[in-house]
Amino acid sequence: MMHTFQVKWKSPANIALIKYWGKNGHQLPANASLSMTLSEATSTTEVIFSPLQQDQGPLVQFSFEGHANEAFQQKIEHYLQYLANHEMPFLRQYHLDIRSSNSFPHSAGIASSAAFMSSLSLCLCSVEEQLQEGMGYAFFERASYIARLGSGSASRSIYGGYVSWGRSSHVPHSSDEYATPVNKRVHPAFMNYVDAIIIVSEQPKAISSSAGHRLMDNHPFHLARYRQAAIHHEDLLLCLLCNDRERFVEIVEYEALQLHALLMTSKPSYILMEPATLYAIQKVREFRKSTGIPICFTLDAGPNIHLLYANEYKDAVEEFIRNQIIPGMTQTVRIMFDRLGNGPEQLFFKNIG
Ligand code: PMV
Repeated sequence: MMHTFQVKWKSPANIALIKYWGKNGHQLPANASLSMTLSEATSTTEVIFSPLQQDQGPLVQFSFEGHANEAFQQKIEHYLQYLANHEMPFLRQYHLDIRSSNSFPHSAGIASSAAFMSSLSLCLCSVEEQLQEGMGYAFFERASYIARLGSGSASRSIYGGYVSWGRSSHVPHSSDEYATPVNKRVHPAFMNYVDAIIIVSEQPKAISSSAGHRLMDNHPFHLARYRQAAIHHEDLLLCLLCNDRERFVEIVEYEALQLHALLMTSKPSYILMEPATLYAIQKVREFRKSTGIPICFTLDAGPNIHLLYANEYKDAVEEFIRNQIIPGMTQTVRIMFDRLGNGPEQLFFKNIG
């Protein structure tokens, strides 16, 4: 007899320090990336799996913050159909009622796909595990693999702390197919990092991730980028291990600016930084020079700025943001304080008969 399951996971967003930009095959990264999992910016997803009379599934009903979302519904149907055909045949026998919400405003310009896709994949893997299908996989490795098929960066949100995704001779058991946590090789000084997110624009993304990755296929600098990403990935792992904050700052900022340099020199070209982004970057560099505080910035594929620093500098940095960044902004900005987080949390799993 088939059962009805109700499962709920909360999963965080992550911010890449070494960027994943460019892919091959089916969601395989062109280079290894490395990220910091956040704590406060999360998606909570609940899925009710109800058995169907025949194998006509997966049938899907999706709502976000209590409202149906047609565009997203289609993407999820497509993703689940792919999984049913290639990875999780049990999905053909179920109707999935998926309800998701975010802890942060949807318009906050934070990439929410990693948080959402990781929470959804954890729900799917919990049921798969219960049905004793997908046996032979470690649970989180499998969840990271399944999340990657929905959104590459989501593979990293399956774990807390610092996470690497993509084959690298410097990360044991690493793979292009799923992410691996690297916390065992991180100096304790990096375990209390803050991410202060300065939201200068709440506009939807100017370019979708998939279109962005495609720009790399014919990019004149792509080989140089992949070579350098590999070097940065290895160097950053070493910085995390040896507590080399100076080099950490250098690599993280270089990675952010390289992502934007690639975007600017793509065909078509995208300039996603805004005057406020450049203003904040200048101020961060001045502040670092005058105080010696090893704060740095990173950027996603958008104009918002993430400031990364150890918690011991919290007071000085908050004062800097209040007195030097905010007054110079020509538009209203929102600041969200996040920090390194512990990874996803299962809220419940019920077999409701
Ligand atoms: O996971 P995707 O396909 O949304 O791509 C993420 C791309 C960046 O956010 C720009 C970089 C990254 O590694 O997260």
